[in-house]
Amino acid sequence: MPKPEVKIHYKNVMADVIGGEHGITPEQLKDLADKTSPLISQLNKERQGGKTPYRDLPYNSRISQQVKELVKELRGRCENLVVFGIGGSALGNIAVQTALNPYMHNIDENQRTGPRLFVFDNVDPPQLVSFLDWLGDKLDKTIFNVISKSGRTAETAAQFMIIRKLLLDKLGPDGLRDQVVATTDSRKGTLRKIAEDADLRCLEVPDGVGGRFTVLSAVGLFSAAMCGIDTDSLLEGARDMDTRVKCEDFKKNPAAINAAVNYHFYNHDKKISVMMPYSYALKDLSDWYRQLWAESLGKVKDLAGNEVHIGPTPVKALGTTDQHSQVQLYREGPNDKLFTFLQVNNFDKDIKIGPAPNCAGELDFLAGKNLSKLLNNEKKATEYALLTDKRPCLTVFFEKANAYTIGQFIYLFEVTTSFVGALFNINPYDQPAVELGKDATFALMGKPGDYEPGYSYEAFANKIQSLNEIDEKFLV
Ligand code: PA5
Repeated sequence: MPKPEVKIHYKNVMADVIGGEHGITPEQLKDLADKTSPLISQLNKERQGGKTPYRDLPYNSRISQQVKELVKELRGRCENLVVFGIGGSALGNIAVQTALNPYMHNIDENQRTGPRLFVFDNVDPPQLVSFLDWLGDKLDKTIFNVISKSGRTAETAAQFMIIRKLLLDKLGPDGLRDQVVATTDSRKGTLRKIAEDADLRCLEVPDGVGGRFTVLSAVGLFSAAMCGIDTDSLLEGARDMDTRVKCEDFKKNPAAINAAVNYHFYNHDKKISVMMPYSYALKDLSDWYRQLWAESLGKVKDLAGNEVHIGPTPVKALGTTDQHSQVQLYREGPNDKLFTFLQVNNFDKDIKIGPAPNCAGELDFLAGKNLSKLLNNEKKATEYALLTDKRPCLTVFFEKANAYTIGQFIYLFEVTTSFVGALFNINPYDQPAVELGKDATFALMGKPGDYEPGYSYEAFANKIQSLNEIDEKFLV
């Protein structure tokens, strides 16, 4: 049996389908191929030179082994797994879980093959209090996976400090040690220091890999494996995609083509990129993609130091739900978007629609049909409607949605991001603009000392407060 593949279909971005004003002409495609082709070997060389360590994560058997050993040790006594993290330390975990475990995973013990999973990627008091109220005396059956490369992220640090107190109060220092797994930098940082001090079990955030590229490391693999997901297949899918995205023939390289199409439309007044899965399981992959795209590609300067203020705006949508919410805008609003649909060809579970009531013969045409047929025809119908209005549409086909294809998809979009970064001539691996907000939060929360030499956090906080002062004249 051939393995199920993830493939990109790009016919419906071409001028033949949506016309020369909005679609890509054969000449433009040739220009894109000429521009992108040399970048394939450039990225391959950068990878060999150790500049993109995320590319090698699917081959790292050491990480996989460490994760498996820890899972073996903890799974038997873990009914609830709680992940504390944010951004790249959470979105991959959520996406993999939604994609690969049943919808009722947390609720139905018969469907669940591991602990319940709760990922907290926010500091919302009512949410956490409600959860902790439910958790009650189940602390000793709960593992808390605190994920932070730096350990200085205020949200994750605060979550950890709340749970640390709870564990110390209820179970003492042994309880803290038994129930917490820290995933952090292998050598440095605040969480590493805390973990060593409290003798916590640890996993590593790989060196030189930004959070949003870490889902195929211990960051994403631990919660996946704890919850019964086949991480070997996930990694195998990523490796098999690797052979396709390092191929130096542009026409055979799905990441190069995906990047070239996205780059083209960004430069042709379509700076918004909508990802719209037609599958509930795939819905959080578009959330993961949103961060990958936004933090990697939104940059003020190019590599030559020119001010470019570049970056497509990623938007997530869900089929069919957003047909009844967004498609009016997508069809009749400005033609400023590229659409990427995700479609599953074969769902592993399906259900037939029942007969129509006698009084509603007009619904007979639906009776007896598979629900998957309705879902996928709704996708085709929406794409048709968008194409009628000359909106460019890509589709990523999943032969099936399983660990192997999810691994392919993750790797495909990570490498696509590298290609788009190279086409834009920017650095897709940093996120300097996130820092100011983090530091401003520290200042407002009363961090002592200097923010910069000669400029205290207190002075910084005063400056922020003055900008945030409420002016009654503008308050209605
Ligand atoms: O992609 C990234 O690098 C960020 O989203 C980080 O993952 C996020 O800011 C959390 O950082 P940390 O892991 O240091 O807590």
